[in-house]
Order: sequence, then C-alpha cells, then structure tokens
Amino acid sequence: MARIVLRGLGHSYRNAPQCETDYALKPVDLTWEDGKAYALLGPSGCGKTTMLNIISGLVTPSEGRLLFDGRDMTGASTAERNIAQVFQFPVIYTTKTVRQNLAFPLECRNWPSAKIAERVDRIARLLDLSDILGAPARRLSADQKQLVSLGRGLVRDDVSAVLLDEPLTVIDPQMKFALRRKLREINRATGITMILVTHDQSEAMSFADEVVVMKDGQVQQSGPPEHLFARPQNEFVGYFIGSPPLNILAAEPGNNRLNCPALGLSVGLPRGVGTSVLSFGVRPEHIHLVDVAGTAPGARVEAVENLGVERVFTLRAATGETIKVKSRRHKGLSAGTDIGLSVKLGDLLVFGNGRLLGDGEAYLPSEDVG
Ligand SMILES: Nc1ncnc2c1ncn2[C@@H]1O[C@H](COP(=O)(O)OP(=O)(O)O)[C@@H](O)[C@H]1O
Ligand SMILES: [Mg+2]
Repeated sequence: MARIVLRGLGHSYRNAPQCETDYALKPVDLTWEDGKAYALLGPSGCGKTTMLNIISGLVTPSEGRLLFDGRDMTGASTAERNIAQVFQFPVIYTTKTVRQNLAFPLECRNWPSAKIAERVDRIARLLDLSDILGAPARRLSADQKQLVSLGRGLVRDDVSAVLLDEPLTVIDPQMKFALRRKLREINRATGITMILVTHDQSEAMSFADEVVVMKDGQVQQSGPPEHLFARPQNEFVGYFIGSPPLNILAAEPGNNRLNCPALGLSVGLPRGVGTSVLSFGVRPEHIHLVDVAGTAPGARVEAVENLGVERVFTLRAATGETIKVKSRRHKGLSAGTDIGLSVKLGDLLVFGNGRLLGDGEAYLPSEDVG
C-alpha cells in the first residue's frame, strides 16, 4: 500500500502539444493518501481514464512525475507498481471456472494453495459468488462476470491501490447500490486505497472519503463530499455536485452592496472584484418556502416532482429566473401557487467570473438583509 503523489503530472496524446486543449490531462499536483476511498468524478472525455492509466502504468505521462511513498515510479513497469485495475467491461478467463479466475492473480504470485483457497472464499463471500465458484465463467451473466472481474482486482491483499474505472456501468441498478457498499466495506476492512472512477455524482458522493472533480482535463476541486457540496470552488463543481444542481442567480452591484433581486437579499460588495461578472449560488436544499403573506419575495410554483421522501419544486421568481427548491415539507403545494422564499445569508455563495469568492480568508456576506 502506498501514498500516491502526482507532481506536475500531465499528458497529451499528441507528439508536440501546442496549447492547453492538446492535453487530455493538464499538469496537476495531487496526492492520494494511503487507505482512503476516492472517487474521480467528471463528464465523459474529461481525462479520468487517462489519469488512472498513468497511475497503473498503462500510459506514460508526457510530463511530470509519479511517486509511490516518495519513490519515483514514472517509468516503472506495471508489475513493479503492484496496482490492481478493474475496467468498465469484465476482464475474465472464459475457459476457467469462477474459482480459477479468482485464484489466478494469487497463483501468479506463488501463494500457497491453502492461503489461496481461504482468500478466494473470503472474496467470494463478499461478492456473493460463493454459490457459483465451480461454474465456468463463460456461463455467467454480464453482472456476474463483472463481479468476478472485481473479485480478481480485490483478491490480492498486497497491492498499492485498487483502481476501478467505471466498473459498475454494466451492473444492474438494483445491485449497484449494494456493490458500492461492499467496495466501501472492503476498503475499510483491508485499508487498501481505492480510486473509483465515475461520471455519476451520487455514486461518487456516497462512496468516497474524498472526491476529485475533473473537467476538460483539469482537476477542478478535491475534498470530502460535504465540502464540495458546501463550498464548490467554481460554478461547474456547484453544478456537477448535487441534485438538482446549485441555483445560479443574478447578482447586481449597487450602493456598495451586491443584491440578489430574485431572493430579495443583499450582501456587502466583495472587495477587489473589479470588472468580474458576479453571480450568486444557492443550494436547492437551502431555500425555504414560506407563506407569501410574510416579508420574503415571492415566486410561483411551476412544477412539483415527487421523489418519495423529498420533493423538488421548480419556481419562477419575480425576476423571471428559474429556482429549484428541494424540501421534505409542503406536500400540499401544487403548480400555480405563489409562495415566499427565505435563505440564510450564510448559505449564499458569491462567484466572480464563475469562481467562488472568499474561500480561505472567508468572505462572509454581512448580516443585514436588503
Ligand atoms: N489513446 C488515445 N489516443 C488519443 N486520444 C485519446 C486516447 N485516449 C483518450 N483520448 C482522448 O483524451 C481525452 C480524455 O479521455 P479519457 O481519459 O478516456 O476520458 P474519460 O475517461 O474521462 O472519459 C478525450 O478527449 C479522449 O478522446
Ligand atoms: Mg473513461
């Protein structure tokens, strides 16, 4: 097991990259701590597989260095790195049984057969494969094949990390949830670093200790799920994390303050913003619906989506802006109704040119309500 560090690591599939857009992975500094469960999250084509393949050694980066526990592994062979990788589609031996498939990575490392049997049984129990250990792999369903593939990645207890590249894509949705939980259990029980690549934010948020968000070959932000939710570094992260995504609302400077007409709020004008385009961000979970008779500005309910426990209300503000609100209350509220809105100033995020303002030495919106 190892602490994996990317230092100025970048990759272009072109021979002579000319500009930023030529990079599938723009140079980045990033640390994967030993033993944690990570999700690498981003839309298709943003460079997730490229990053994973550089860590496992399938791709040699065009610049930068890769360190395992301080040792330079940039040029090391895949075998030296001792990484287990699980791919989107099952990689198994169809001529072998399930047991033989699971045992193979251990046989290659000359484990004694009693130890192999014990380990294979344990992994089979974890993945619910115990009943089919004797079955030929070619007879399995697509789900089961991927479970065997996962098992082959997890069976070794001596790997530096397990890299999982969208392994749940071919798995039945019902089973995805259970499998994700099992992966978490395995991570906790074994302390093996796991990096799960996904384009599904709910998968990332529920699996990982830390989520690394990528877009266009660039790491946008990394941190614990709660932090990405509360303090998205830019509008993209705000949009990509959370469902429905962060509401982005117009911000109008005036009288040395920054006003949010849709919510009837104003905050002190952040300093040093010059000519930046300013906007507010607010989570659908942080907008509270109140009686219109109150002081709050109004909005009209346009649609209600019932998610079971929660509802998502689509509202039209007086400014014409669309606002999404997520709430467990207001079961009787239907389309066409006028309703008031209330937001705590502390839940308002301010963006300048799409970037969160005031992170670090916090820019806190001042108390007074406009
Ligand atoms: N072998 C390759 N040769 C050339 N371009 C590639 C290759 N693999 C990926 N790319 C390009 O690099 C970018 C990142 O791809 P990839 O890492 O596969 O993204 P993701 O896994 O996030 O979908 C994409 O624009 C893709 O077309
Ligand atoms: Mg990929």
